[in-house]
Amino acid sequence: MPKTRSYHIAVVGATGAVGAELLGVLERRGFPVERLLPLSSSRSAGKIVSFRNNEIAAEELSSASFEGIDLAFFSAGGDTSRRYAPVARAAGAIVIDNSSVFRMEPDVPLVIPEINGEDIQQHSGLIANPNCTTAVALMALYPLHRAFGVRRVFAASYQAVSGSGARAISELRSQVEAAAGKQTSVAKVYPHPIAFNVFPHVDSFLPSGYTKEEMKMQNEGRRIMHLPQFRASVTCVRVPVYRAHSVAVSAEFERPVSVAEAHEALAKAPGVELVDEPQKNSYPMPLYTAGKDNCEVGRVRLDCALVNGLSFWVSGDQLLKGAALNAVQIAELL
Ligand code: A2P
Repeated sequence: MPKTRSYHIAVVGATGAVGAELLGVLERRGFPVERLLPLSSSRSAGKIVSFRNNEIAAEELSSASFEGIDLAFFSAGGDTSRRYAPVARAAGAIVIDNSSVFRMEPDVPLVIPEINGEDIQQHSGLIANPNCTTAVALMALYPLHRAFGVRRVFAASYQAVSGSGARAISELRSQVEAAAGKQTSVAKVYPHPIAFNVFPHVDSFLPSGYTKEEMKMQNEGRRIMHLPQFRASVTCVRVPVYRAHSVAVSAEFERPVSVAEAHEALAKAPGVELVDEPQKNSYPMPLYTAGKDNCEVGRVRLDCALVNGLSFWVSGDQLLKGAALNAVQIAELL
């Protein structure tokens, strides 16, 4: 039997929240890794990460890091991607980028394998991973679009702190502990305390009044679903949840809808689980979707304010389907 090819893999941001998940997903899915190179900033250089029972020291990212690398996963923020993704590409690596920097570039495929995996064929060395909230929402919306033809959505997100990285996870933990001890703690990552609070502010504000994060669902949704007319009015909200984003969606469709047909479409959609028995208090919750590959959908009902409308609730682990898992699925497609 011919030996399966194995790859030299760099993970940029390996010491961060998404990077740690990437190592776990590569290992769990048995991705053929010949050599793993964890890269970080100088702050974490030398820090040990573990991969397949090996302890590997993170190296400081530099222009020389990508020599001999086949595949580079980037999850170290937009500035790092902007500067080093072209370097990795020039060194011959294929880049799978988790930042928003390249997502709208026409020659960069923006891919959710269950939806538009075939777009990957157009790549020229760089593939973009979608925004985490968009990915979770589209996992539920796309099967419904296939069934009924989506026109527009109104949505509100409930986004976990791990979406803002490892420091935000610590910030929530320390604020919860401080509150339990009746102490005050200072907000550093966020502009307000996140423990026992929610705020309608994810990413920076645009002149329109929406945030950048809020517009990603429309902009990225158009590319991923190949639907240039798709419209999405979204309010993104940060909530004191460690892991897994949830989105409440009201969607308007071209054709008449029914809950039974929606259930049928969702039940057979890859990467989606239907959790929809509200009479038994059964609906998706981030506490239980955290750590799972599949996104869960529930509360499916006829929308009382839209024609041909459905309302639903979707919850999914944004570090997995919204980031690391989707990136590794892209690599598997390649
Ligand atoms: P470091 O650990 O050295 O800060 P998170 O999203 O959890 O905050 O993680 C961000 C990841 O990106 C970390 O691994 C972090 O490394 C890495 N990173 C941040 N800035 C840079 C940079 N300028 N160069 C290389 N890696 C970076």
